[in-house]
Amino acid sequence: MSDALIIFDTTLRDGEQSPGASMTRDEKLRIARQLERLRVDVIEAGFAASSNGDFEAVQAIANAIKDSTVCSLSRANDRDISRAAEALAGASRSRIHTFIATSALHMEKKLRMTPEQVLEQARLSVRFARNLCGDIEFSPEDGYRSDPDFLCRVLEAVIAEGATTINVPDTVGYAVPELYGNFIRTLRERVPNSDKAVWSVHCHNDLGMAVANSLAGVKIGGARQVECTINGLGERAGNCSLEEIVMAVKTRKDYFGLQVNVDTQHIVAASRMVSQTTGFVVQPNKAVVGANAFAHASGIHQDGVLKARDTYEIMRAEDVGWSANKIVLGKLSGRNAFKQRLQDLGVAMDSETELNAAFARFKELADRKSEIFDEDILALVSEEDAAAHHEQYGFVSLAQHSETGERPHAVVVFTVAGKEVRGESDGNGPVDASLKAIESHVRSGAEMVLYSVNAISGSTESQGEVTVRLQNAGRVVNGVGADPDIVVASAKAYLSALNKLQSKAERVAAQG
Ligand code: KIV
Ligand code: ZN
Repeated sequence: MSDALIIFDTTLRDGEQSPGASMTRDEKLRIARQLERLRVDVIEAGFAASSNGDFEAVQAIANAIKDSTVCSLSRANDRDISRAAEALAGASRSRIHTFIATSALHMEKKLRMTPEQVLEQARLSVRFARNLCGDIEFSPEDGYRSDPDFLCRVLEAVIAEGATTINVPDTVGYAVPELYGNFIRTLRERVPNSDKAVWSVHCHNDLGMAVANSLAGVKIGGARQVECTINGLGERAGNCSLEEIVMAVKTRKDYFGLQVNVDTQHIVAASRMVSQTTGFVVQPNKAVVGANAFAHASGIHQDGVLKARDTYEIMRAEDVGWSANKIVLGKLSGRNAFKQRLQDLGVAMDSETELNAAFARFKELADRKSEIFDEDILALVSEEDAAAHHEQYGFVSLAQHSETGERPHAVVVFTVAGKEVRGESDGNGPVDASLKAIESHVRSGAEMVLYSVNAISGSTESQGEVTVRLQNAGRVVNGVGADPDIVVASAKAYLSALNKLQSKAERVAAQG
């Protein structure tokens, strides 16, 4: 059996399904470039048939990425599969990932199909897909809760039709490690043609065991592909986290004995990019990429680490990219240095005009903040993207007054479809007053379900990054804004969330 473990990243598909995490085409492309730099083997770029926006994102990624296989999800029907193939046409290496639910519960209640109908649809879909692409992955959705006898019949049939990867999802995060590992092993032992496919694990984190289950699927079950997302992003409690899987397999090579291609030095940058783009903040104690992951606070630990690092450290911070968090640019940096840094970060500007506009903003920021970090540049580029795409709402300026014992008051000037308007309000605090000032004009009626502030690079001198999550008419969106002034960052985040609410992007849910 091969000792190579394939890393299949689904941040841009399963991760993006998390309510509020939806991304624009350009944001997805930027993350895809970072994933390529990380050297992940397969990038699941989206679900081409779910919306025109996702089709375009998959297409753009397929055309841009050269070193990783680019994959699109599709339901098990000819239309979805054709759409996936069309979006992937420009890829150097492409994969179609088709799925249909196989658990009794899903077949009866969701699909309203008999097991025989599901079996036939799976078989015909893989046959159809195989005529369009040489690399076909099949997933029996809710596979872990499916009847093993039936599942074996389905998997044998799709392998016979040419499926090259068999992925067994624990769709609802119900598995426990030993049982999941045994489940994969049993399937591999019982499916007669199992050796014709690579076996893959796909675990959700509802009980906090996605990484442990995936590792058991590899160790006990013999799977050789893990599906995962940066920061464990994903619906509900998320997916298996890429950084944890990769570092577990690398750090415990003595136990797993497997090779992974991933260039771990780009992990922290990827984590920050995903968190900044989606507004899903990484908890400080998150393994590998949390701010505290390598911080030793207790005296005993500090003393030990100073004497010999391996007393308390099993991984080196610099191996996952922590040391890359250095000051990159400042007030005196020129346009070429800025352009170079954008290239290093995988950010492509569509035109010289866009580059000039971003550089002007960079200079403005450098006037207010002496040290500019990669994260600052990424935040700035996100704002530039929004401006370039003529979003409905755009921030112009803000004035607010707050004083102990007085009710704060704010005036916010912003654009609505290019026209400047002015909103004014008081509130419980300066942030509240500013957001109410915007609402006094917009009257979105949206409910705020989350507000969070984070320092982009750790000190009070850094930019504040604000995430605002709004909910309206069943849609949930996240807006992110950054500025050295957190009240301004809050107003920007609020306007960004309103822009996302405004865009009518309806999409078909993969597990819908
Ligand atoms: O969790 C799941 O079942 C999925 C499939 C669509 C692969 O994401
Ligand atoms: Zn999933």
